[in-house]
Amino acid sequence: MKQYILGIDQGTSSSRAFLFDEELNCLSQAQQEVPLIYPKNDWVEQDAELIYLSVCETIEQCLESAGISAQEVSAIGITNQRETSIVWERSSSRALHNAISWQSKQTQKICDGLADLEVKSKTGLLVDCYFSAPKIRWVLDHCDAQEQAETGELCFGTIDTWLIWKLTGGNSHVTDLTNASRTMAFNIHKLHWDAEILTRLDLPPKLFPKVLSSRDKFGFACEGPFKNMSVPILAVAGDQQAALYGQGCDQPGMVKNTYGTGCFMLMHTGEKAVQSESGLLTTLACSSLEKPQYALEGSVFIAGAAIQWLRDNLQIIDEAKASGELAEELKGNGGVVFVPSFSGLGTPYWKSHVKGGCFGLTRATDKRHIARAALEAIAFQSKDLLEVMKQDCGSEIHSLRVDGGACASDFLMQFQADLLGVSLNLPDFTESSVLGAARLALEALTGREFSMESRAEKSFTAHACPLQMKELYSQWQKALDAVITFSE
Ligand code: G3P
Repeated sequence: MKQYILGIDQGTSSSRAFLFDEELNCLSQAQQEVPLIYPKNDWVEQDAELIYLSVCETIEQCLESAGISAQEVSAIGITNQRETSIVWERSSSRALHNAISWQSKQTQKICDGLADLEVKSKTGLLVDCYFSAPKIRWVLDHCDAQEQAETGELCFGTIDTWLIWKLTGGNSHVTDLTNASRTMAFNIHKLHWDAEILTRLDLPPKLFPKVLSSRDKFGFACEGPFKNMSVPILAVAGDQQAALYGQGCDQPGMVKNTYGTGCFMLMHTGEKAVQSESGLLTTLACSSLEKPQYALEGSVFIAGAAIQWLRDNLQIIDEAKASGELAEELKGNGGVVFVPSFSGLGTPYWKSHVKGGCFGLTRATDKRHIARAALEAIAFQSKDLLEVMKQDCGSEIHSLRVDGGACASDFLMQFQADLLGVSLNLPDFTESSVLGAARLALEALTGREFSMESRAEKSFTAHACPLQMKELYSQWQKALDAVITFSE
């Protein structure tokens, strides 16, 4: 009998479902955008129920277009936007508040009050609005729900936990190592929720899900598209660690960069949890509780989201791919530099209050320059990441595996290769996060390792003048200094 793996990728911008065969060939896929809600400047939320419903609908569409019934799915693998946090009632599964997005800054005051809390040595992270623990505190305060939390009436979860809870009809309150490692409440060395951090934030342990390996028995889906069925959920991983796994980067020193809503560069560091000296995060890679594996991560908050902003806010393009076409109409950027730090700056600056800016505008500037500057900004920010990664690991990085939606732009990929002076390898199937989750689920199902080596690749090699690239990068650094100064 044929085996089918269903991969669910719940991201910031959209929910997607993919069906794979036992060789991890993608048979069908479906996608639905999930709206972001901006209740105030700097606040970013999403409707938790809508996230779940969009996942159910995409699963149904995906299975329908493959002509496969939900009953025929052998195993489910879930990958998800990380850090985004939901608190819900155990009895009714009702979310107390919208999901607080990883991009949201409404926890700034809570974070300011934690400035003296040592989290880096335990969690691999820094105190920042990006992570989950301050978001949970905010929801409990905002909804006046501390007592309910203490009596065990509430559950906290990142998106994976929420989806599993809903799909299993409230039977499983679980997460995996990679998602737990992004909460700022999980000790990545001892592999448990950290009592000292929980006490400091006044977060009752009863709120927290059980942490499992990335390949594990997460429960049986019996709701939504799986009503009255029992389909095993065998894999869970946060989208960036899943992409590392899906790219076959499972050996120390291997690096990938994902161009999604944000940009996330991860280097696998094996059994060693490397502590960064330069603002990178130490995080858990896809692994087991028995043999944890680690990665170094650089996080850029706005990458593909800058192109979405050109489409939705400025309305100078109709669809994302038009940005590359506009950029290619020009020979250069005309001196225009765009810093899209709409959600503050992540690695290596960690300045959450910084706003964006655009520089070098003249009467000749038009939408082509803005589109080109937005794409170049994605590449500049990735260079910022690569530079600190080289510094921390003390060696050169000669090639980079890349994936994510924005890789569809040849302009961006070529400019990135030129700017970094390294070659970029792009797999033929660029949805590495969901591929990683499906790989984990297949391995859990069959009990054997699945090699990712034979995947076809497209390469981009550097051929621009290094001096010219250096000049462009120094313009970027000047613009970055300017937005930091402006926001002080
Ligand atoms: O840490 C945030 C990250 O997981 C979001 O990923 O793909 O939604 O940009 P994405």
